[in-house]
Amino acid sequence: MHPARARPGFRGFPPPPGGSSMDSLRRVATVTTVATLLLITVGALVRASGAGLGCPDWPHCYGRWVPPLSVEDLPPSADRATFNLAKTWTEYLNRLAGVLVGGLVLWTTWRAWSVRKAARRVFPLALGIALLTGFQGWIGGLVVKYELDPRWVTVHLFLALLMLALLIELRETTRLGDIPQSRREAGMPPLLARALKVLLWFSVIQILLGALVRGGLEVVVQENPDLPRDRWIPTLGSVELIHRLLAIALALAVLGFSWRLARSRETSATDRRLAWTAAFLIAAQYGSGVGLHRWALPPTLQVIHITLASWLFAVLFLLHRRVR
Ligand code: HEM
Repeated sequence: MHPARARPGFRGFPPPPGGSSMDSLRRVATVTTVATLLLITVGALVRASGAGLGCPDWPHCYGRWVPPLSVEDLPPSADRATFNLAKTWTEYLNRLAGVLVGGLVLWTTWRAWSVRKAARRVFPLALGIALLTGFQGWIGGLVVKYELDPRWVTVHLFLALLMLALLIELRETTRLGDIPQSRREAGMPPLLARALKVLLWFSVIQILLGALVRGGLEVVVQENPDLPRDRWIPTLGSVELIHRLLAIALALAVLGFSWRLARSRETSATDRRLAWTAAFLIAAQYGSGVGLHRWALPPTLQVIHITLASWLFAVLFLLHRRVR
């Protein structure tokens, strides 16, 4: 056994130095992670309600920082026929939520600066998250500029997942300090730790396929504006079938993994709970996918489907960072 493992603390390691400042950074990082997850849901709500172009410009909305309250408030150059008050304010609230997350990220970075000497990795990580958040804001502007082009929407989704992964990494670093991953105990049988890595990549591929399905549906609608909603999926072709088939494989793999992990004696109670959470999320995700397919894409299920996908990714990534 490595000598460091004999010491008390997380899986045999002492807690990192930094005391209450480190604990405070962990709490702020947790709040920022949860806020980022909520922002993904708000973004999905905007998309499902068709409010994505509710503000036709960026960073302003109809040329103003606070959008118009009625059609009379519109600037003379604005197209009055396309103005929709509810959609404008939905998109504006999405932007405010984005600003809130941006503020939380800055707060996290500031807290990370105060413990930079206790754990060398925290500040560069927090700074990376802050830069990525700024970049994500700029990409959000491109999404508006290119009128919700599916490629930019997909880039926007993947950057959100990357932000989530880095925030979880930061949070875990506040628990483990500078101990390199290679020196941590796995906390689960090595085979399961390897399987978890594969599952994580598998879920990322499935999310990418989902984004391709969504982008494909948008093209179908643009090219056939009169096509009834229940014909959208059948018109789409093979990408939707691949997404559905891989979903079966992913669901079985996550359920099998969770069952094995929950039964392993090496697993901590928290990791077991995380394993069951992943099992619940994949089952619910599968169910929402079936619902989308069967009931011709109800907007509520569109929001639930993307929300559950981001939660599943976050839980699998958290489990992965807790082990080697
Ligand atoms: C089980 C794992 C699954 C994962 C991780 C997953 C993930 C995703 C993601 C991330 C999207 C993109 C959503 C967006 O960008 O707004 C998506 C879209 C979609 N998925 Fe899945 N999915 C899964 C299972 C399924 C299943 C089983 C079905 C059908 C039986 C399905 C049907 C769809 C459909 C129809 C869309 C397009 C929805 C839209 O346009 O809003 N999915 N999926």
